[in-house]
Amino acid sequence: MSINKIVASALVGAAVSFAGFAQADVVFTKTTDGTKFEISDPKAFGDTKKKDNVKTAAEIEFLKTGKNIYVGDAKAEKRGKKRFGYWSCTQCHGPTAKGQVGPGLVGPTFKYPKDATNVGMFETIWFGTNGGMGGKGYGVMAPDDGMTVDELLKTIAWVRTNGKGLTGNEEVK
Ligand code: HEC
Repeated sequence: MSINKIVASALVGAAVSFAGFAQADVVFTKTTDGTKFEISDPKAFGDTKKKDNVKTAAEIEFLKTGKNIYVGDAKAEKRGKKRFGYWSCTQCHGPTAKGQVGPGLVGPTFKYPKDATNVGMFETIWFGTNGGMGGKGYGVMAPDDGMTVDELLKTIAWVRTNGKGLTGNEEVK
């Protein structure tokens, strides 16, 4: 299958969930059981370096449209690479996210096809999967621990740099 076809099929689901809420925020769905979730704890947001829990511009944009503005932003991607190491993603997915104990993350095919989109990959990492990966989002694995939305967006942006041109933003305006 071509990258375009895979992205297109992954996005049919996303498009359906967006259709009814043209102006509304993105509705997140757990990869584990398909139920919806919201991120409401203020501590789940903010630039980890600043530790102020103030929503970043990237977080505001992502929650509204699903676009990850860090994709293609070299500084953010560099920071994302560091977070990939800090949260031990490297141990299971390898130093260039191409797979080790865990699967490769660069596509173009994914076990969870929605991971071709940034919203989909975010959902998979935030709440984890049923097949061996625990959620990494703030408060999911342990109270008062886990990644902020901002740092996960940076991490995903870096993961995308290791692939062959998939940005995950293909379907968002
Ligand atoms: C303890 C090992 C381990 C760690 C640490 C880990 N993962 Fe995973 N990850 C896995 C395994 C195993 C799977 C496959 C899960 C499944 O099949 O349901 C997976 C699946 C994934 C997927 C879905 C891939 C697909 O093909 O759909 C993504 C995305 C992902 N991991 C990202 C991350 C990121 C980012 C981190 C760090 C924040 C991380 N993982 C940390 C083991 C790990």
